[in-house]
Amino acid sequence: VNAAPTIQPVRDARGIAMVARLADEIWREHYPPIIGTSQVNYMLERFQSEEAIAAQMAAGCRYFLIVHRARPVGYVACEPESEAGRLFLSKLYVRRDERRRGLARAALGFLEALCRREGLGRIALTVNRHNAGSIRTYEQLGFHRAGTQVKDIGGGFAMDDYVMEKEVPGGTETG
Ligand SMILES: CC(C)(COP(=O)(O)OP(=O)(O)OC[C@H]1O[C@@H](n2cnc3c(N)ncnc32)[C@H](O)[C@@H]1OP(=O)(O)O)[C@@H](O)C(=O)NCCC(=O)NCCS
Repeated sequence: VNAAPTIQPVRDARGIAMVARLADEIWREHYPPIIGTSQVNYMLERFQSEEAIAAQMAAGCRYFLIVHRARPVGYVACEPESEAGRLFLSKLYVRRDERRRGLARAALGFLEALCRREGLGRIALTVNRHNAGSIRTYEQLGFHRAGTQVKDIGGGFAMDDYVMEKEVPGGTETG
């Protein structure tokens, strides 16, 4: 029987360094067939360097490490959008050799509890339209497609995404 994973808030430079290391490993393994190596390099440098992560956290983004058997094996980033009444899930990554063990499901349970505590009625995310396995995962976890989004991220690159959403019952007083 696997020990239950824990979801631990990133609070300091050491945690940020762990996230950046996981991002580097997971993105280089997963994304080249989907977006190409030069876009992966660009996005890692721009969005997942230690400096970039620290700046996102200073602006309200929350990072968490997924820890399993005392090892950091994945990470989550999210940002409450109070006016929209939702939590935006901007990152969810699990190391390849730890997938299909329920870690993303556990992370989502944690985020749903966070939504209920903070009165947020749904979780939204964006996922690359060609990231088929992850889209399938999100569907299994109760998300549905709510639209499409093309976003210019500079450097001559764009993100070509589906927007997906999941309602979180009990997330708001008024329903
Ligand atoms: C997407 C990702 C985070 C899922 O993490 P995970 O820990 O393997 O997911 P879980 O084990 O909790 O699986 C959750 C559900 O999705 C299903 N699932 C997981 N991976 C799947 C895949 N590749 N294809 C189809 N279904 C999949 C599981 O069967 C499970 O459903 P079930 O509980 O009803 O059986 C992980 O595969 C990953 O990091 N992928 C690469 C990076 C990425 O694309 N991240 C998302 C960016 S938007």
